Amino acid sequence: MRHGTADIVIIGGGIIGCSIAWRLASAGRRVILCDAGVLGGEASWAGAGMLVPGSEYSRACPELTFALESLAAWPGFAAQLERESDTSIDFELCGALELAGSPAEFEKLRTLATTQRRLGIDCRVVEAQELRGMVPGLTAPLEGAVYFPKEGQVDPRTVTAALRIACQRAGVEIREHTRVTRLIPRDGAVSIESSDGGVIEAARAVIAAGAWSNLIDAGVRLPRCFPVRGHLIGYALSAGSLPHVLRFHHTYAVQRRGGYTIAGTSEEQVGFDRTLDPATVDGIAARAHALAGGIIPAVAQDAWIGFRPGAKRGPSLGRLDDTAIWLAYGHYRNGILLAPATAARIAGEIISSLESRLA
Ligand code: GLY
Repeated sequence: MRHGTADIVIIGGGIIGCSIAWRLASAGRRVILCDAGVLGGEASWAGAGMLVPGSEYSRACPELTFALESLAAWPGFAAQLERESDTSIDFELCGALELAGSPAEFEKLRTLATTQRRLGIDCRVVEAQELRGMVPGLTAPLEGAVYFPKEGQVDPRTVTAALRIACQRAGVEIREHTRVTRLIPRDGAVSIESSDGGVIEAARAVIAAGAWSNLIDAGVRLPRCFPVRGHLIGYALSAGSLPHVLRFHHTYAVQRRGGYTIAGTSEEQVGFDRTLDPATVDGIAARAHALAGGIIPAVAQDAWIGFRPGAKRGPSLGRLDDTAIWLAYGHYRNGILLAPATAARIAGEIISSLESRLA
């Protein structure tokens, strides 16, 4: 059992929680970061790390604005993180392609691209011949694509490894294997209880526990978040063999700078069931191979699952009513993309609230 005091306790050490902790500690705040397991051990370990708002958003909405803001923040976030952790993260804006398999689909994508350009998403239509030159090795019959030149990928495992170091250097106290069970508001502050009987007294708490966020008793009903399991598969391929992120219907493929390639995915509401389903794995492998058989072999080397934090109304970001508790969860398919903007927003709000309390 460990007690303690802090300015802010962050509950959840995925990319979102770690990024918020890093920002707050860099601003001179005393931060304790709790995780029920290890930092970056769940969705931030499993995620493909695609930074592709163009494939996720097709109409004007606050989430799109936020996603574009976060994409624009990624290069600076990555460079600062590499500097402050002395760790290289695998980040690159290699461009992404949304592929069309029929004339009707291509027509739909063309129309969508016009709308997306108006919404501030940089994209252009690519005809079939140019597409074959951009990605030699595509084997599906494709009519064309829309290309998003400013999108890309980052390996979230390298990001959370770097965030651990940056957090430690900034003075964050990291408590792994510490499952927070209850938050009790007290006089504008909050007590944070963990399953080992430990209690931390803090001025502020942030719930950033991804799909597990609703398991915390905060004394009020929290916005609903639920696990959406995804299967992913991986292959060791030659570096540069897949130059752009590919999206085709429910299939995607993304290559790390070193050549490791990930394909996905599935969306399953099965609670926290960690069973790997061989039929789902084989199905993704077949789809990926059919799409780009000149690059992606028929059989994958690795397969794993992760739990996206599903939320019907988009992410919950900000203060919970007038409590000392902030919410930063429910990012669903886009937690890696949205991490820099989420950290900036949540850390900014908390710092302002602490400063106005003292004013
Ligand atoms: N971001 C990709 C996925 O959730 O599968």
